[in-house]
Amino acid sequence: MVRLLCIESTCDETAAAVVTDSLEVLGSVVASQNALHERFGGVVPEIASRAHVERILPVIDETLRQAGVTLADLDGVAVANQPGLVGSLLVGVCAAKALCVATGLPLIAINHLQAHIYACKIASGEEVFPCVGLIVSGGHSNLYRCDGPTDFTPLGGTIDDAAGEAFDKVGSLLGLPFPGGPAVSRAAANGDPKSIRFPRPLLDDNTRLAFSFSGLKTAVRYEIAGPGGDPATVELSEQRVADIAASFQEAVVECLVGKAEMALRQTGFNTLCVGGGVAANGRLREGLEASAARHGRRLYIPPMSLCTDNAVMGAIAIERFKEGKFESLEMDVYPGLQR
Ligand code: KG4
Ligand code: ZN
Repeated sequence: MVRLLCIESTCDETAAAVVTDSLEVLGSVVASQNALHERFGGVVPEIASRAHVERILPVIDETLRQAGVTLADLDGVAVANQPGLVGSLLVGVCAAKALCVATGLPLIAINHLQAHIYACKIASGEEVFPCVGLIVSGGHSNLYRCDGPTDFTPLGGTIDDAAGEAFDKVGSLLGLPFPGGPAVSRAAANGDPKSIRFPRPLLDDNTRLAFSFSGLKTAVRYEIAGPGGDPATVELSEQRVADIAASFQEAVVECLVGKAEMALRQTGFNTLCVGGGVAANGRLREGLEASAARHGRRLYIPPMSLCTDNAVMGAIAIERFKEGKFESLEMDVYPGLQR
């Protein structure tokens, strides 16, 4: 049995997991930093990297303890080195390299976005490739042609804000707690998604697989305070917050569902795999399920704990381990996915 320690520190979660070559999860720990970033309304990169430094070793220790293994029982150390916040990436990568130096274990690189899609395979236990990958997180809203676990071709993505970023900003406009995504979706549960007709940017543009969420966020701002007004000074009733949240969420969901189906048509693939924090959104799941049923697609969305950042999805490293694709200790971090 192959056992890998996987480390994740691309953004603001410090996470580790021990996984096997049969994709069994022996241990998994995620330390969230939400409480540290909440009062800033977004992830502060410097605070994130300092918090990773404090947490990374206790998180790894606890993961090994949960898994009932020591470093001597491992066959490799894998770490996400792209994409992400540079200071955050460096902490995980330095920890992984230190463990490899100390133990002589091989070092394996994880592409965080590919890992998000791989979570679909881990969760379902089924072969999901080839597929269209839809990654919707705080930093990304992208569609990929995924011929294999590590063979991704970008098909398109957002031309401005990511979907999660839009949720977070709208949450803040509505005076909801950080992170905005879960808060907006909770508020939306009591709202009428048809109460306000927000724009569906680029949805009718059949020529491009692209998203644009920045204008939608501005439309929400105008809805709250009018052009030039300050949303922070406007008192909104609970029902109004719910209606705006539900209408905004509906617009985002329609864009994501529409373009994902367009990507499936374009590639000729019949399977859609979804990953990233926004995939935890219940309304998005419903929208994708309805579209998949209508068009006869196979749809994979992992459970919530595997949608938001975690180290279990780092089990994609098993694929590289099997191919003998190891990294030298010179391995760098790539904040913008240049590799
Ligand atoms: O993948 P992730 O955990 O971290 C990144 O790599 O970005 O995604 C975090 C993003 C945040 O923007 C968060 O607000 C959003 O996912 N999110 C949600 C929900 N849960 C998390 N957005 C909408 N609805 C949710 N239920
Ligand atoms: Zn992520």
